[in-house]
Amino acid sequence: MTTITDVADMQALAKRRVPKMFYDYADTGSWTQSTYRENEAALQRQKLRQRVARNIDNRSVKSTMIGREVAMPVALAPVGLTGMQHADGEILAAQAAEEFGIPFTLSTMSVCSIEDVAEHTKTPFWFQLYVMRDRGFSENLMQRATAADCSALVLTLDLQVLGQRHQDLKNGLSTPPKPKPSVLVDLAFKPFWCWNMLQTKRREFGNIHGHVAGVDDMSSLAEWTNSQFDPTLDWSSVEWVKKHWDRKLILKGINDVEDAKIAAGLGVDAIVVSNHGGRQLDGALASYDVLGDIVDAVGDKIEVHFDGGIRSGQDVFRAVAMGAHSTYIGRAYIYGLGAMGKAGVTKVLEMIHKELDVTMGLCGETDITNTGRHNLVL
Ligand code: GLV
Repeated sequence: MTTITDVADMQALAKRRVPKMFYDYADTGSWTQSTYRENEAALQRQKLRQRVARNIDNRSVKSTMIGREVAMPVALAPVGLTGMQHADGEILAAQAAEEFGIPFTLSTMSVCSIEDVAEHTKTPFWFQLYVMRDRGFSENLMQRATAADCSALVLTLDLQVLGQRHQDLKNGLSTPPKPKPSVLVDLAFKPFWCWNMLQTKRREFGNIHGHVAGVDDMSSLAEWTNSQFDPTLDWSSVEWVKKHWDRKLILKGINDVEDAKIAAGLGVDAIVVSNHGGRQLDGALASYDVLGDIVDAVGDKIEVHFDGGIRSGQDVFRAVAMGAHSTYIGRAYIYGLGAMGKAGVTKVLEMIHKELDVTMGLCGETDITNTGRHNLVL
């Protein structure tokens, strides 16, 4: 095997090891996938200012996220079905994040449950909430996250209905996968995944299975989501969530300055500039293209976090220099997980840390908290 030097290498390995239906689930955007592609492209377009002849010894990329010290301004984003990229995926990713010193966010749509992840980690993780039509269930999820000592809730606002993802429909995405001939042939070429999956019992949506009366057919994620997720979710729902959650609250899925202003007025701890990785509104602006305006509008009132298209430490640097307080990676760590399990997540974090540190140095900076737009060619 060739030496792994970047996230693209991890992605190539994950593609070989993870069943097509789950690899595609991660590596997909909605409809034409234009926003999915633009998220990466917008970051790539941002040129950096090279500065020389400065003392760049003793560099630090340490920062904070909603008051928590982090080894770098990067958290693991919530990703549905992480435990289908690799057996026990959420537990492994949470452990890798904990050892590295950055936050892990567990998706409502995870395979390992809130309780499972809590049992296998020591540091409080963050929990991402989808508000369901059955508000009692969402309330129950918040109670479970509180009991599991989760220190922050990440409330997703941009998935009241599911953006259509063509590849998932073509693949008949389900968990566990249905034993169709095409799936069985694919699995025959994925022995690493199968071997690990045979060692675990965690193959369902751990937070949902057995907790929602009458929900036993999760075979079509799209249909299930559209029947369960609450399309009436509005700003008053944020107030409702706040009544049931007394710890840190982060609003995820803000991609518009007006929405950012409303969110900043709600007394939450942070917002995440995000378009759900290009998986929801195809044709929406790339997250990076709206980041600067949102920072200008609300950056002095609230922590502005960022996700969408980060594939390297250079991208983290770009976002932070543009004014993001910190960032999240989703697919980047998912590829590491699919390729090599926990070691793959750790390797991705090490690569991103190194790229961030060296990029910062070559821009003439020694402290990530001092970087800014002066490091960008604008
Ligand atoms: C869920 O969050 C998804 O984007 O599939």
